[in-house]
Amino acid sequence: MSVTQRVRLGVNIDHVATIRNARGGDHPDPVRAAEAAVAAGADGITAHLREDRRHITDADIDRLTAALTVPLNLEMAATADMLAIALRHRPHAACIVPERRAERTTEGGLDAAGQVDGLAPLVARLRDAGIRVSLFVAPDRRQIDAAVRLGAPVVELHTGPYSHATGPAVADETARLADAAAYGAAAGLEIHAGHGLTFVNGRPVAALPAVAELNIGHFLIGEAVFIGLAAAIRQMRECIDAARP
Ligand code: PXP
Repeated sequence: MSVTQRVRLGVNIDHVATIRNARGGDHPDPVRAAEAAVAAGADGITAHLREDRRHITDADIDRLTAALTVPLNLEMAATADMLAIALRHRPHAACIVPERRAERTTEGGLDAAGQVDGLAPLVARLRDAGIRVSLFVAPDRRQIDAAVRLGAPVVELHTGPYSHATGPAVADETARLADAAAYGAAAGLEIHAGHGLTFVNGRPVAALPAVAELNIGHFLIGEAVFIGLAAAIRQMRECIDAARP
């Protein structure tokens, strides 16, 4: 199993755009937030260009691509339109996520196992363009096997059910993440994780030896209201580092 010493922190800036869009103007600017996040220690920036453009817009992706000095991880649905956008911008990474318009956020993992044939051409096109493909999947061995079959080098494990769990379910969900992370790393995949992570529940995920990267957004932007974005990111960095021996 590959053991990564330092877990990378990707900061998702979608919800800076959510606040901006609430008034329809240009403040707060997600690109400025991305630059502040990098200055505070973010190793990468994640943005989800949703089909309904409810937060991040095409213009944001243009400006992020031009401004960023760290890798951009573009979250995208597996559609022809999004593929064309990704091929135009050539971000460092593209994370394929399932998307349903009615959902409030990305609620479930991508059913990679159920749509290997449909995903294969998209993954191949992205890979051929030099974009590192990641599949956002449930911590489930079937989904990991599908990622291997598809030739995706990375899976991002969906930590939503873990982060919402209470009582004995927390240990069950932690065990599922641990199993999937170890299984995926043994199969040669790079393991990322994200969704719903906080200072508290992020630590046990960062402690999993196979986990190489965490992608965190909503909590950090929310916490920025109270302590500022830079302080929130620095504190998250400390939590992650403290979780690794
Ligand atoms: N990773 C992926 C693939 C996501 O879709 C999201 C949510 O946009 C996140 C990470 C970040 O989740 P959160 O905003 O809950 O930290």
